Amino acid sequence: MKIQVLPTIPEVAALVAEDIAEFINANPKKLLCFAAGDTTLPVFDALIRLQKENKVNLSNTYYIGLDEWVGLDRKTTGSCAQVMFDEFYEPANIPQENICVWDGLCVDLDAEKRRMEDWISKHSGIALSFLGIGMNGHVGFNEPYIGLPEGTLIVPLDETTKKVSGKYFDKIQDIELGITIGAGELKKAKKIILLATGSGKAEIIKKTVTGKPDESVPASLLIDHHDITLYLDKAAATLINV
Ligand code: GLP
Repeated sequence: MKIQVLPTIPEVAALVAEDIAEFINANPKKLLCFAAGDTTLPVFDALIRLQKENKVNLSNTYYIGLDEWVGLDRKTTGSCAQVMFDEFYEPANIPQENICVWDGLCVDLDAEKRRMEDWISKHSGIALSFLGIGMNGHVGFNEPYIGLPEGTLIVPLDETTKKVSGKYFDKIQDIELGITIGAGELKKAKKIILLATGSGKAEIIKKTVTGKPDESVPASLLIDHHDITLYLDKAAATLINV
Protein backbone atom coordinates (compact mmCIF):
# COMPACT_ATOMS: atom_id res chain seq x y z
CA MET A 1 0.00 0.00 0.00
CA LYS A 2 1.21 3.48 -0.83
CA ILE A 3 0.75 6.13 1.89
CA GLN A 4 0.77 9.81 0.98
CA VAL A 5 0.80 12.43 3.74
CA LEU A 6 0.38 16.13 3.08
CA PRO A 7 0.34 18.95 5.63
CA THR A 8 -3.23 20.19 5.19
CA ILE A 9 -6.66 18.96 4.08
CA PRO A 10 -6.80 21.24 0.98
CA GLU A 11 -3.43 19.90 -0.16
CA VAL A 12 -4.50 16.27 0.31
CA ALA A 13 -7.81 16.94 -1.42
CA ALA A 14 -6.05 18.48 -4.43
CA LEU A 15 -3.74 15.47 -4.76
CA VAL A 16 -6.58 12.93 -4.43
CA ALA A 17 -8.62 14.84 -7.02
CA GLU A 18 -5.67 14.75 -9.43
CA ASP A 19 -5.33 11.00 -8.88
CA ILE A 20 -9.05 10.44 -9.56
CA ALA A 21 -9.01 12.74 -12.62
CA GLU A 22 -6.03 10.88 -14.03
CA PHE A 23 -7.87 7.59 -13.53
CA ILE A 24 -11.01 8.88 -15.30
CA ASN A 25 -8.95 10.23 -18.20
CA ALA A 26 -7.13 6.92 -18.60
CA ASN A 27 -10.23 4.73 -18.01
CA PRO A 28 -13.26 6.40 -19.61
CA LYS A 29 -16.84 5.10 -19.14
CA LYS A 30 -15.99 2.97 -16.10
CA LEU A 31 -17.95 2.65 -12.85
CA LEU A 32 -16.76 4.71 -9.89
CA CYS A 33 -17.85 4.34 -6.28
CA PHE A 34 -17.39 7.44 -4.10
CA ALA A 35 -18.07 7.57 -0.36
CA ALA A 36 -20.25 10.29 1.13
CA GLY A 37 -19.42 11.46 4.69
CA ASP A 38 -17.44 14.57 5.58
CA THR A 39 -13.94 13.49 4.56
CA THR A 40 -14.53 13.25 0.83
CA LEU A 41 -16.24 16.67 0.44
CA PRO A 42 -13.05 18.74 -0.18
CA VAL A 43 -12.07 16.21 -2.87
CA PHE A 44 -15.43 16.68 -4.61
CA ASP A 45 -14.80 20.47 -4.63
CA ALA A 46 -11.31 19.93 -6.03
CA LEU A 47 -12.63 17.58 -8.74
CA ILE A 48 -15.26 20.12 -9.77
CA ARG A 49 -12.51 22.76 -10.00
CA LEU A 50 -10.45 20.45 -12.24
CA GLN A 51 -13.50 19.98 -14.47
CA LYS A 52 -13.94 23.79 -14.74
CA GLU A 53 -10.29 23.97 -15.84
CA ASN A 54 -11.07 21.32 -18.52
CA LYS A 55 -8.67 18.84 -16.93
CA VAL A 56 -11.32 16.12 -16.57
CA ASN A 57 -14.81 15.36 -17.80
CA LEU A 58 -16.64 13.95 -14.77
CA SER A 59 -19.58 12.89 -16.96
CA ASN A 60 -17.40 10.53 -18.95
CA THR A 61 -17.97 7.87 -16.33
CA TYR A 62 -20.66 6.12 -14.24
CA TYR A 63 -21.30 6.28 -10.52
CA ILE A 64 -22.72 4.05 -7.83
CA GLY A 65 -23.62 5.09 -4.30
CA LEU A 66 -21.52 3.33 -1.69
CA ASP A 67 -23.99 3.05 1.15
CA GLU A 68 -27.14 4.42 2.78
CA TRP A 69 -28.90 4.57 6.11
CA VAL A 70 -31.97 2.30 5.98
CA GLY A 71 -35.02 4.53 6.47
CA LEU A 72 -33.54 7.66 4.87
CA ASP A 73 -33.59 8.79 1.27
CA ARG A 74 -32.31 11.71 -0.74
CA LYS A 75 -34.89 14.10 0.78
CA THR A 76 -33.36 13.71 4.26
CA THR A 77 -30.49 16.04 5.15
CA GLY A 78 -27.50 13.87 5.96
CA SER A 79 -28.48 10.85 3.91
CA CYS A 80 -25.65 9.58 1.71
CA ALA A 81 -27.74 10.23 -1.41
CA GLN A 82 -28.46 13.84 -0.36
CA VAL A 83 -24.76 14.47 0.22
CA MET A 84 -23.70 12.91 -3.06
CA PHE A 85 -26.30 14.76 -5.16
CA ASP A 86 -25.90 18.17 -3.49
CA GLU A 87 -22.13 18.09 -3.06
CA PHE A 88 -21.01 16.23 -6.16
CA TYR A 89 -23.38 14.89 -8.83
CA GLU A 90 -25.35 18.12 -9.29
CA PRO A 91 -22.53 20.70 -9.02
CA ALA A 92 -20.47 18.46 -11.32
CA ASN A 93 -23.41 18.29 -13.81
CA ILE A 94 -23.42 14.49 -13.96
CA PRO A 95 -26.37 13.27 -16.07
CA GLN A 96 -28.98 11.36 -14.04
CA GLU A 97 -28.59 8.32 -16.30
CA ASN A 98 -24.94 7.95 -15.22
CA ILE A 99 -25.87 7.63 -11.53
CA CYS A 100 -27.32 4.86 -9.39
CA VAL A 101 -27.75 5.40 -5.63
CA TRP A 102 -29.42 3.48 -2.83
CA ASP A 103 -33.01 4.28 -1.90
CA GLY A 104 -32.94 3.88 1.87
CA LEU A 105 -36.74 4.18 1.93
CA CYS A 106 -37.36 1.28 -0.44
CA VAL A 107 -39.98 -1.25 0.66
CA ASP A 108 -38.03 -4.30 -0.49
CA LEU A 109 -34.38 -4.25 0.59
CA ASP A 110 -33.57 -7.48 -1.26
CA ALA A 111 -34.88 -6.02 -4.52
CA GLU A 112 -32.87 -2.86 -3.82
CA LYS A 113 -29.72 -4.94 -3.32
CA ARG A 114 -30.39 -6.69 -6.65
CA ARG A 115 -30.94 -3.33 -8.40
CA MET A 116 -27.55 -2.08 -7.19
CA GLU A 117 -25.80 -5.35 -8.03
CA ASP A 118 -27.32 -5.26 -11.53
CA TRP A 119 -25.87 -1.76 -12.05
CA ILE A 120 -22.46 -3.04 -10.96
CA SER A 121 -22.68 -6.00 -13.38
CA LYS A 122 -23.97 -3.83 -16.22
CA HIS A 123 -20.79 -1.74 -15.94
CA SER A 124 -18.45 -4.73 -15.55
CA GLY A 125 -17.72 -4.10 -11.89
CA ILE A 126 -16.47 -1.12 -9.92
CA ALA A 127 -13.26 0.24 -11.44
CA LEU A 128 -12.36 2.78 -8.75
CA SER A 129 -13.32 2.66 -5.06
CA PHE A 130 -12.80 6.02 -3.34
CA LEU A 131 -13.47 5.49 0.34
CA GLY A 132 -13.43 7.32 3.65
CA ILE A 133 -12.50 5.44 6.81
CA GLY A 134 -14.99 5.65 9.67
CA MET A 135 -14.05 6.12 13.33
CA ASN A 136 -14.30 2.35 13.85
CA GLY A 137 -12.37 1.58 10.65
CA HIS A 138 -15.45 0.87 8.55
CA VAL A 139 -15.59 1.45 4.80
CA GLY A 140 -19.10 2.13 3.62
CA PHE A 141 -21.15 0.26 6.20
CA ASN A 142 -18.80 -2.72 6.28
CA GLU A 143 -18.62 -2.72 10.06
CA PRO A 144 -16.04 -4.60 12.17
CA TYR A 145 -16.13 -8.41 11.86
CA ILE A 146 -18.16 -8.44 8.63
CA GLY A 147 -15.12 -9.47 6.60
CA LEU A 148 -14.94 -9.08 2.83
CA PRO A 149 -18.40 -9.83 1.42
CA GLU A 150 -18.94 -9.47 -2.31
CA GLY A 151 -22.11 -7.97 -3.79
CA THR A 152 -24.15 -5.86 -1.37
CA LEU A 153 -25.42 -6.33 2.15
CA ILE A 154 -27.73 -5.09 4.88
CA VAL A 155 -25.81 -4.41 8.08
CA PRO A 156 -26.82 -3.85 11.71
CA LEU A 157 -24.91 -0.67 12.52
CA ASP A 158 -22.09 -0.67 15.03
CA GLU A 159 -22.55 1.44 18.21
CA THR A 160 -19.70 3.77 17.13
CA THR A 161 -21.37 4.37 13.75
CA LYS A 162 -24.71 5.16 15.41
CA LYS A 163 -23.03 7.58 17.82
CA VAL A 164 -21.06 9.33 15.07
CA SER A 165 -24.10 9.53 12.76
CA GLY A 166 -25.56 12.47 14.71
CA LYS A 167 -23.06 14.80 13.01
CA TYR A 168 -24.74 14.32 9.62
CA PHE A 169 -28.37 15.03 10.57
CA ASP A 170 -30.30 18.17 11.42
CA LYS A 171 -32.62 16.20 13.74
CA ILE A 172 -32.38 12.95 15.69
CA GLN A 173 -32.70 9.92 13.41
CA ASP A 174 -33.42 6.51 14.85
CA ILE A 175 -31.23 4.33 12.65
CA GLU A 176 -30.35 0.70 13.19
CA LEU A 177 -29.41 -0.63 9.73
CA GLY A 178 -27.22 0.34 6.83
CA ILE A 179 -27.11 -0.94 3.25
CA THR A 180 -23.77 -1.03 1.55
CA ILE A 181 -21.61 -2.41 -1.18
CA GLY A 182 -19.56 -5.19 0.38
CA ALA A 183 -15.88 -4.63 1.16
CA GLY A 184 -15.00 -7.64 -1.03
CA GLU A 185 -16.85 -6.05 -3.98
CA LEU A 186 -15.04 -2.73 -3.38
CA LYS A 187 -11.75 -4.60 -3.24
CA LYS A 188 -12.30 -6.09 -6.72
CA ALA A 189 -11.79 -2.57 -8.15
CA LYS A 190 -8.80 -1.88 -10.38
CA LYS A 191 -7.79 0.92 -8.00
CA ILE A 192 -8.63 1.88 -4.41
CA ILE A 193 -8.16 5.29 -2.84
CA LEU A 194 -8.57 5.57 0.93
CA LEU A 195 -8.76 8.96 2.60
CA ALA A 196 -8.69 10.01 6.25
CA THR A 197 -8.13 13.46 7.71
CA GLY A 198 -8.07 15.07 11.13
CA SER A 199 -6.59 14.07 14.46
CA GLY A 200 -9.75 12.15 15.40
CA LYS A 201 -8.81 9.50 12.82
CA ALA A 202 -5.17 9.10 13.97
CA GLU A 203 -5.86 6.11 16.23
CA ILE A 204 -7.88 4.13 13.65
CA ILE A 205 -5.27 4.90 10.99
CA LYS A 206 -2.60 3.45 13.25
CA LYS A 207 -4.73 0.29 13.63
CA THR A 208 -5.34 0.16 9.87
CA VAL A 209 -1.72 0.28 8.77
CA THR A 210 0.21 -1.39 11.58
CA GLY A 211 -0.09 -5.08 12.22
CA LYS A 212 -1.82 -7.71 10.12
CA PRO A 213 -5.13 -7.19 8.31
CA ASP A 214 -7.73 -7.73 11.02
CA GLU A 215 -11.51 -8.11 10.81
CA SER A 216 -11.89 -5.75 13.77
CA VAL A 217 -10.61 -2.95 11.47
CA PRO A 218 -12.40 -3.31 8.11
CA ALA A 219 -10.14 -0.86 6.23
CA SER A 220 -7.12 -3.04 7.10
CA LEU A 221 -8.62 -5.86 5.02
CA LEU A 222 -8.11 -3.76 1.88
CA ILE A 223 -4.46 -2.84 2.26
CA ASP A 224 -3.02 -5.83 0.41
CA HIS A 225 -4.80 -4.71 -2.80
CA HIS A 226 -2.43 -4.39 -5.80
CA ASP A 227 -3.19 -0.68 -6.36
CA ILE A 228 -4.23 1.06 -3.16
CA THR A 229 -3.19 4.46 -1.85
CA LEU A 230 -3.99 5.84 1.58
CA TYR A 231 -4.05 9.63 1.61
CA LEU A 232 -3.72 11.40 4.96
CA ASP A 233 -3.28 14.89 6.25
CA LYS A 234 -0.59 15.40 8.87
CA ALA A 235 -3.10 15.29 11.73
CA ALA A 236 -4.42 11.84 10.76
CA ALA A 237 -0.86 10.53 10.35
CA THR A 238 0.50 11.55 13.77
CA LEU A 239 0.60 8.00 15.20
CA ILE A 240 2.26 6.23 12.26
CA ASN A 241 5.78 6.26 10.88
CA VAL A 242 5.90 7.32 7.24
C1 GLP B 1 -19.71 7.01 7.18
C2 GLP B 1 -20.16 6.46 5.83
C3 GLP B 1 -18.99 6.18 4.93
C4 GLP B 1 -17.93 7.21 5.17
C5 GLP B 1 -17.34 6.99 6.52
C6 GLP B 1 -16.46 8.12 7.02
O1 GLP B 1 -20.48 6.50 8.22
N1 GLP B 1 -20.93 5.26 5.99
O2 GLP B 1 -19.44 6.20 3.61
O3 GLP B 1 -16.93 7.12 4.20
O4 GLP B 1 -18.34 6.72 7.47
O5 GLP B 1 -17.26 9.22 7.32
P1 GLP B 1 -16.64 10.64 7.58
O6 GLP B 1 -15.93 11.01 6.37
O7 GLP B 1 -17.81 11.54 7.87
O8 GLP B 1 -15.72 10.50 8.76
